[in-house]
Amino acid sequence: MLRSIIAGLAALFAASGALAQDAVKVGLILPLTGPFTAIGKQVEAGVRLYQHQHGNTVAGKRIEVIVRDDTANADTTRRIAQELVVNEKVNILAGFGLTPLALSAAPIATQAKTPLVVMAAGTSIITERSPYVVRTSFTLAQSAHIMAEWAAKNGIKRAVTLVTDYAPGHDAEKSFVDRFKTLGGQVIESLRVPLQNPDFAPFLQRAADAKPDALYVFVPAGQTAIAMKQYVERGLDKTGMKLIGPGDIVDDDVLNGYGDAALGAITAHMYSAAHPSAKNKAYVEAFKKANPGMRPNFMSVGGYDGMHLIYEALKKTGGNADGDSLIAAMKGMAWESPRGPISIDPQTRDIVQNIYMRRVERLGGELYNVEFATFEAIKDPVKAMAAK
Ligand code: DHB
Repeated sequence: MLRSIIAGLAALFAASGALAQDAVKVGLILPLTGPFTAIGKQVEAGVRLYQHQHGNTVAGKRIEVIVRDDTANADTTRRIAQELVVNEKVNILAGFGLTPLALSAAPIATQAKTPLVVMAAGTSIITERSPYVVRTSFTLAQSAHIMAEWAAKNGIKRAVTLVTDYAPGHDAEKSFVDRFKTLGGQVIESLRVPLQNPDFAPFLQRAADAKPDALYVFVPAGQTAIAMKQYVERGLDKTGMKLIGPGDIVDDDVLNGYGDAALGAITAHMYSAAHPSAKNKAYVEAFKKANPGMRPNFMSVGGYDGMHLIYEALKKTGGNADGDSLIAAMKGMAWESPRGPISIDPQTRDIVQNIYMRRVERLGGELYNVEFATFEAIKDPVKAMAAK
């Protein structure tokens, strides 16, 4: 009797071991409720589309994505990451809709030696917080310094900056201001709006009262529609002041809702739904079909490309999901994304990508960010400067 129970238990363990071996688990942590739901929805849609197109099996392993909602609360992100690593035994952590959420989970990636794929957040320091962090989104600094160069060369002499008062806003402000001033530009005022329950109106009014040539704005995805509504309510689109910034403010997901007020806005960014490549045309079409009523934005490609990175790394390791092996496989990987050619910098594990200058135009009844200049293979300039 005892012998048969032991034999039965042994068989059970063997079976569960085999099952565990056959699956690679990805813990996808995103804000799926609360004020930043829009970010989570776009990233998740990108992840799902990739799986829909490429199947659920790689190198003989079934890819199991476990989705959890952190409501954009950093303590919750950390608790979920811990729980996914300890109880679910995930092989990879992914997602991370905002910088504080990515930062709170990074120590868990280090302790557990678990790759952490940042698909959305954009502050430069995130990849430095753990040797297991890899990024498929962007850094604000990548586009901010290119925006500053365009402004300085295109008749903008006096600018006001308005950013959300947390790490990516500080990066967006600093990179723009430093570069713009170096090139002879003048920054009259630098305004910072709180992250929680923001009221943009008084800041926008103050910016307009300073009568700059351009207003440089960074507001995180999820809050841009409110900012633009208040911008239009105050008639700021009619003052002659140019709206510029990283592309968050003209997010493809919500841009159509702005109407003519957004026409002519100039931004520097890594993704446009209007990017003129065959790969992107197919991506936009498939995304819209799978998600009626949505248009893919820059967050969605972070999710889509993050899954590509995971799939291709597993192919390279022959299905070995050990953290160090996966990170080694991810370093230096290069491929064509819907946004254009991208790669993972083997030194920093951060993304290298084209940054495009774009102008909001109406095309076939819809508003789009139409690209008019390309800056190729841009590394995060904050890390590039530190390395010099
Ligand atoms: C973050 C950065 C963004 O550019 C954005 O649109 C939303 C969030 C972030 O890093 O928190």
